[in-house]
Amino acid sequence: MSTAFEPITIGRYTARNRVVMAPMTRNRAYGPGASPTRLMATYYAQRADAGLIITESTQPSPIGQGFPNTPGLHSAEQVEAWRRVTAGVHERNGLIFAQLMHAGRVGHPSLHGGTLTPVGPSPVKAAGTVFTMDGPQEFVTPRALDRVGIRETIEDFASAARNAIEAGFDGVELHAGSGFLLHQFLSTNANQRDDEWGGSARGRGRFSVEVARAVADAVGADRVGLRIWPSHVYNDIVEDGHHDTYLALLDALNPLGLAYLHIAEGPDTELTHRLRERWTGTLILNPYTPGAFTGPESLKLIDSGAADLISYASLFMANPDLPRRLRAGGPFNTPDFSRAYGGDHKGYTDYPPLPGP
Ligand SMILES: Cc1cc2nc3c(=O)[nH]c(=O)nc-3n(C[C@H](O)[C@H](O)[C@H](O)COP(=O)(O)O)c2cc1C
Repeated sequence: MSTAFEPITIGRYTARNRVVMAPMTRNRAYGPGASPTRLMATYYAQRADAGLIITESTQPSPIGQGFPNTPGLHSAEQVEAWRRVTAGVHERNGLIFAQLMHAGRVGHPSLHGGTLTPVGPSPVKAAGTVFTMDGPQEFVTPRALDRVGIRETIEDFASAARNAIEAGFDGVELHAGSGFLLHQFLSTNANQRDDEWGGSARGRGRFSVEVARAVADAVGADRVGLRIWPSHVYNDIVEDGHHDTYLALLDALNPLGLAYLHIAEGPDTELTHRLRERWTGTLILNPYTPGAFTGPESLKLIDSGAADLISYASLFMANPDLPRRLRAGGPFNTPDFSRAYGGDHKGYTDYPPLPGP
């Protein structure tokens, strides 16, 4: 039997298995002021058999929101509503981290009643469109964060992490991928700064490192993970010299003693091996599986030592009891991606578990 079903330490916790629910934005936070609903609590509780659940992207501040109906962790109302979610998962002895995501330059003023302009490392507009309440719209030119703005944004992350713990989360994951704010700082096109927050690999990594440090100071490094998406071309991100960028990032993050690093692997799988060697902590891998979603065969990567845990998104969407199905070798429900983003319980909480105990 694969070690995938044996417990493992993640930061200060013991996960019951090594099958992680990867973060999935589902755009159903219809509660007041971008808060989670009871339906969301049901959805996460159904999936509590995961070794670790990482929630959908959650904005640490209003300006961090990147899509309609995504939840936040910046108000008392949201903290209160998240309590139902974390309690449901804990009742079933699960572990749940909130993924904190700031969209940066790929947000849109229409998400804020037209009153706020998205921020970024530099005033460089991304090519492409963002999905808004009024359909797809062109990205806008962001307002470049000045040094004070950078410090305030870092504090927003720390404050959201404190809120997450207050809401009952076991920890937080920082989203440094998908072309969102942390990734924008890491990139060589969205970040055109010539101060200490840009330029060299170390300079471009500084924002991620300082966010991680502030959040670790706020809630404990052993409750903080960080997710990267190296070599993914997404949201108009360019990463020249990405090996240097990510190796320098890991060198700066290692001393913080974070709970884990989560790699959403891109086409450059060679880089994953280098990062695995360089990272001194626990590694969660979401393997690169072009044209398919992560399947049962990926668990072999745990036994071969390529990763400590494997994360699943699509299969977890459709299979609330995924660890059990993986252990049994299937069968698996098929995800309905037409119901991925927004909607009601259909394609959300109505995927059946396997019959029997
Ligand atoms: C509906 C959906 C929403 C997603 N939302 C997020 C997100 O909020 N944050 C994130 O880091 N990744 C997000 N992802 C990416 C997944 O976490 C994962 O890396 C990707 O789907 C590949 O894994 P899979 O083959 O198991 O689906 C999303 C994926 C899907 C399918």
